[in-house]
Amino acid sequence: MGRAGFVAGNWKMHGSLVRNQELLDAVVSGTRSLQNVSCVVCVPYPYIAQTQSVLEGSHVLWGGQNVSQYHHGAYTGEVSADMLADLGCQYVIVGHSERRTLFGEGNQVVAEKFRAAQECSITPILCVGETLAQRESDETEQVIAMQLDAVIDLAGIEALGQSVIAYEPVWAIGTGKTATPQQAQDVHKFIRSRIAVHSGGIAENIQILYGGSVKADNARELFTMPDIDGGLIGGASLIAVEFISICLAAQN
Ligand code: 13P
Repeated sequence: MGRAGFVAGNWKMHGSLVRNQELLDAVVSGTRSLQNVSCVVCVPYPYIAQTQSVLEGSHVLWGGQNVSQYHHGAYTGEVSADMLADLGCQYVIVGHSERRTLFGEGNQVVAEKFRAAQECSITPILCVGETLAQRESDETEQVIAMQLDAVIDLAGIEALGQSVIAYEPVWAIGTGKTATPQQAQDVHKFIRSRIAVHSGGIAENIQILYGGSVKADNARELFTMPDIDGGLIGGASLIAVEFISICLAAQN
């Protein structure tokens, strides 16, 4: 045991220069006493430079919400991992369900993005999770196994060990419907068991976050489950007091 806590905010497509400044300042000062928890904000591309200038030298780290699978070239509108690294990003979310469902990213592309991030020394936060229909037809484990296997097949198990995994049941994202701590725990345990087939050590050490309607008032209950190491936070990461309190709840 002894995995450190990890809380990442996914701002999604929200923010403005004025609001970001207030939010980032509040998060830095409100999490100053945090021990043994990484605190990360994943912000929209245009605000990464602002985020870097506010957070540089603080304990709060930053990252992107998506990345191209390509490193450079004629890919209009894309942003490469090299560019994120240039702006001090240490993390990037890959395979978020909104990317998978709204923008057609399949397991293979997600795996390529994962690899591109690591090639630039950026730690991917790999999102996995099932839809409501998949859960109701008992396919949760099969879907998540395929999402994990695509990355293991392309990048290898050692590479997976250098990432953070986020379990985000699609039916719990932005709906106010949180998975119960036990439902989340069961899937987190399954993810570790699937990784343990390749490496027991990696399965034990990898940080696995829960995401989907995490708020200040349900975070602690989720984070006390043995296989839940923290959270990937959407809506509540835009409200400083909520996000700070979620970060504090991830302290062991
Ligand atoms: P909510 O916390 O708004 O449900 O979003 C979760 C999420 O998608 C984080 O990546």
